[in-house]
Amino acid sequence: MNFGGKVHGGIVMKWIDQTAYTCARNWAETYCVTVYVGGIRFYKPISIGEVIKINAYVIYTGNTSIHIAVDVYSRNFSQKEFEKKTHCVIVFVSVDEKGHPVKVKKWIPGNEHEKQLEAYAVKLNQMREKIGQEMKPFLEGKSDE
Ligand SMILES: CC(C)(COP(=O)(O)OP(=O)(O)OC[C@H]1O[C@@H](n2cnc3c(N)ncnc32)[C@H](O)[C@@H]1OP(=O)(O)O)[C@@H](O)C(=O)NCCC(=O)NCCS
Repeated sequence: MNFGGKVHGGIVMKWIDQTAYTCARNWAETYCVTVYVGGIRFYKPISIGEVIKINAYVIYTGNTSIHIAVDVYSRNFSQKEFEKKTHCVIVFVSVDEKGHPVKVKKWIPGNEHEKQLEAYAVKLNQMREKIGQEMKPFLEGKSDE
């Protein structure tokens, strides 16, 4: 619970990571590590006691990376329909026992919707390259302490 009496955002992020990891691991059939999490937008709060549904699905594969979209839904017990509360894309890398990236099997979109998802993943990847360049000066160096 957060100080506002709703489900804590950090807990939702943990569920997202666990669900997405399971999806990536199933696809890769190897151990995977998270290489990028970004753009988590909490559209609406989730109240304590609500039923949660989390969908994770592959939307793109590179050479060694698996891009997983995650949708988080919730509903209270008097509602029939789930409402989407959060969406994000997490990128995992398939690794060997030494932690080195290894090739993954290609995911091929099967219909128009999946083609749109793949194009979305490619676009996000291009945007991430720019974000990475902006962040680079702040990733280098040691702790000030
Ligand atoms: C993930 C890791 C193995 C990648 O190793 P690396 O030597 O940087 O490997 P590469 O540069 O070859 O990149 C591997 C893949 O990651 C992708 N990648 C790298 N940076 C990325 C970013 N910012 N966004 C999306 N994908 C990214 C690359 O595009 C590549 O994918 P591709 O093979 O499909 O093209 C390494 O960075 C690592 O171990 N990171 C820590 C992982 C971890 O501990 N995660 C838990 C978080 S606490």
